[in-house]
Amino acid sequence: MAKAGRASGGQRPLLEARNIVKTIGTGAGELQILKGVSMDLVPGELTLLMGPSGSGKTTLLSILGCILTATSGELHLAGHQAVGLSSEALAEIRRLHVGFVFQSYNLFPTLTAVENVLVALDVRDARSADPIQTATEALKAVGLGHRINT
Ligand SMILES: Nc1ncnc2c1ncn2[C@@H]1O[C@H](COP(=O)(O)OP(=O)(O)OP(=O)(O)O)[C@@H](O)[C@H]1O
Ligand SMILES: [Mg+2]
Repeated sequence: MAKAGRASGGQRPLLEARNIVKTIGTGAGELQILKGVSMDLVPGELTLLMGPSGSGKTTLLSILGCILTATSGELHLAGHQAVGLSSEALAEIRRLHVGFVFQSYNLFPTLTAVENVLVALDVRDARSADPIQTATEALKAVGLGHRINT
C-alpha cells in the first residue's frame, strides 16, 4: 500500500481517515485495493502520497476527495462522516470543501481562464457582486495573472 508522509505537525486535522477499505468485484473476482488505511490531513501541511504503480494511490485520493466511497472505514471531513453517503451527498461535500488539481486538467478548452473560474463559482453558487474581479484575483493568487484571458 502507498504511504502518506507529513511535512510538519501541530493543528487539528481537516480530514481524518480511519481503517479505509476499498474492495471491488465479488466472489472469486474480488480485489481488495485498500486494506485499512488511516491518515490525517492537517491545515497548512504538505502531505505526499507515495507508492508503486497499482498500490492504490488514485483510489485513496478519490476516496479522500469524495469521488469514490470506501467499502468500510470512516472518513471525517468538514464535519461529515463520508463513508456510505449517497453520490449526491458526496457531490455536495466536494462542491463546498474539496479542490482537485488534476494531472490532466479538466478545463473547458473553448473558455478563457477567467471564464473557467466563473464556471466554478457558478457551481458553488458563489458569484460575488463582481465575479470577474473575484476570478481574476483567484488566478493572480496562484501565479496565473498572465493567462487571464487566454
Ligand atoms: N475500477 C476498477 N476496476 C478494477 N480494478 C481497479 C479499479 N480501480 C483500481 N483498480 C485496481 O486497483 C489497484 C490500485 O489502483 P490505483 O489506480 O489506485 O493505483 P495507483 O497507485 O494510483 O497506480 P498508478 O501509480 O499506476 O497510478 C490496481 O491494481 C488497479 O488495477
Ligand atoms: Mg494513480
